[in-house]
Amino acid sequence: MSAWPLPSQRYADGVARGDWQDDPAQHPALAELDRLHRALTTPPPRRGMLGRLLGADPAEAIPGLYLWGGVGRGKTFMIDLFHDGLPLEVLRAEGPTEAPLPSHGRGGDRSQGERWGEGEPTAEPALIRPSGTFHPEGAQSRHAGEGTEPRHTGWGEGEPAAKPAPIRRPGIAPPDPKLGRKRRTHFHRFMREVHEALRAHAGERDPLAAIVRGWREARLRVLVLDEFFVSDIGDAMLLARLLERMFAEGIVLVTTSNAAPQDLYRDGLQRARFLPAIALIERHCHVLYLESDTDYRLRALTRSPVYRSPLDAQSDPWLDTRWHELGGDDAHRDAGIEVDGRRIPVRARCTGMVWFDFDALCEGPRGASDYIHIATEFHTVLVGGVPVMDGHRDDAARRFVTLIDELYDRSVNLVCTADAEPPLLYAGERLAGAFERTASRLIEMRSAEYLLREHRG
Ligand SMILES: Nc1ncnc2c1ncn2[C@@H]1O[C@H](COP(=O)(O)OP(=O)(O)OP(=O)(O)O)[C@@H](O)[C@H]1O
Ligand SMILES: [Mg+2]
Repeated sequence: MSAWPLPSQRYADGVARGDWQDDPAQHPALAELDRLHRALTTPPPRRGMLGRLLGADPAEAIPGLYLWGGVGRGKTFMIDLFHDGLPLEVLRAEGPTEAPLPSHGRGGDRSQGERWGEGEPTAEPALIRPSGTFHPEGAQSRHAGEGTEPRHTGWGEGEPAAKPAPIRRPGIAPPDPKLGRKRRTHFHRFMREVHEALRAHAGERDPLAAIVRGWREARLRVLVLDEFFVSDIGDAMLLARLLERMFAEGIVLVTTSNAAPQDLYRDGLQRARFLPAIALIERHCHVLYLESDTDYRLRALTRSPVYRSPLDAQSDPWLDTRWHELGGDDAHRDAGIEVDGRRIPVRARCTGMVWFDFDALCEGPRGASDYIHIATEFHTVLVGGVPVMDGHRDDAARRFVTLIDELYDRSVNLVCTADAEPPLLYAGERLAGAFERTASRLIEMRSAEYLLREHRG
């Protein structure tokens, strides 16, 4: 077996271990991810003198993947299998560029760059900030908001930035700074970063081109974006140009969405200006609909209750079991998330899910903007230890009311342990009216109908 198993192999291994079930509806997506894995880790064919003179061959472009479908079908799960298993050690760095670089340019002899493993020399394999400037810190502390990103955020995830530790495998050369990098993040976060970078490049003639060039100079090869969703006119207006630059630089896009490309930004303002973005996605990505009947998230959520009371010695283990049943992992225990530069402790977080203690969320200087951020970023939130709140805890109660409103409005799945049934959670007077709504919402949020709703992040 290869040192770097294909996504379908990793999937089969998980099925054999009993970690997940074999779903034939997911196989076409796995086949696409296998295609990408192979293409990205196979040296491009050597080209003759004429080919080198003509520059990069667009036929070498590796089509990306736009995987779309209903909620809970396993899209995120599968692109994570792909991303996590993509070896940096052999990741093809070179993609086609529009025109050959001059042979006397910064990168040296371009013909060298056309060969496997001999890309143009880069600076120290540093990371880049959204602004495209080099940033030599380690992978763990790059962006202010990084803590909110479940699991994978890094440029070249898993690879220490400043001095790459050689990962030696039998017969395989150590990682080469000339090799490609991968990045996996959430679409919203990515767009926030692009806007931030645009501010940093304000005044330049073609800031988007400069930003994307910066990514390529840092050898970004594969960009995995979870939950492609366009509702913001600012994003819509710049996506066509951004995608055009990215594809021209040979960056391979792998993305998930709940909508077909044709339905993105469907009723948005000035949609005509967004249409080229759709055309680009369709030209540069294979579009695949994940046609599965099983909403695995709903199945896991309704397998056992999502609300447990009163609080006792079993509350915590129960929440821990639910965390794992829902697909949570232990990679980020007690990691914290950062919202607007402030840290909120968490018990655990992973892609799309986060687990808090009540005190961390409601006893302290938290407010609506924190809760909006959480409700937007995570489709499933676990809250442990909700107490019965009397008149002395009105501040916490008020925050809890706001928290539930935000989670409810965005149809976030809530799993919690509390000291009483919802109508008895508030024992004070001043907030009794507002808390009635909260109690009613908490009850509704336990229902299969509510859990069926699509997260509106
Ligand atoms: N074949 C499978 N067997 C068991 N569990 C699965 C399988 N595929 C996915 N899951 C689990 O189902 C849950 C939902 O999957 P995932 O989050 O990938 O859905 P999604 O398609 O990305 O949904 P959304 O559109 O809401 O983001 C996860 O906990 C995941 O681990
Ligand atoms: Mg998903």
